[in-house]
Amino acid sequence: MKFFIDTANLEQIEEAHDLGVLDGVTTNPSLMAKEGISGEQKILDHYVKICEIVKAPVSAEVISTDFESIVKEGERLAALNEHIVVKVPMIKEGVKALKYFSDQGIKTNCTLVFSPGQALLAAKAGATYVSPFIGRLDDISSDGMDLIHKIRLIYDNYGFQTEILAASVRHTMHIMDCAMAGADVMTGPLSSITGLLKHPLTDSGLEKFLADYKKSND
Ligand code: E4P
Repeated sequence: MKFFIDTANLEQIEEAHDLGVLDGVTTNPSLMAKEGISGEQKILDHYVKICEIVKAPVSAEVISTDFESIVKEGERLAALNEHIVVKVPMIKEGVKALKYFSDQGIKTNCTLVFSPGQALLAAKAGATYVSPFIGRLDDISSDGMDLIHKIRLIYDNYGFQTEILAASVRHTMHIMDCAMAGADVMTGPLSSITGLLKHPLTDSGLEKFLADYKKSND
């Protein structure tokens, strides 16, 4: 299972990268705004900085919503760095653009996916990744994990190569549930990744080992 971090914060990306388990980064316009990154050139430069840190897939989202503009914007993003994955919304024009990018060999991430039917369309259009938003479904009392299970079943039935990128992961248990459901990738905040480290028995066990070592070596 691949671990992506869902942020545009360079310090957090570096911290996750230094841990040695980071396989990529996802961003979106809200995450860029949160970091105060605005203006076309600054946004493009920021994507390049992220790519240079991780040297792994970095999803950069288009803000266009018609086919011609999505293609133009996506091609510009893809030309920035070999690691850029063009993030395209699950709308009619987006599906057409996914197919176009797929034919051109440009990697894509189909975002804002909330149903198995949308995920099926994304795979048929040749998306590299599909991003079902599990946290946002949970937020409205829908079952986010159920969507991951259904997409896994559909993709396995037909051997679709599109990778299931479980998005809108909010906490450590989402990661574990995604791993058990067979998601190919998960993207979440740094806290959801570092949360995997924690167990009180690890802490108390280590404390005892170190104390015993000190006692017999002092
Ligand atoms: C996906 O790529 C999105 O950036 C992200 O996972 C959305 O997460 P949120 O629902 O926590 O905003």
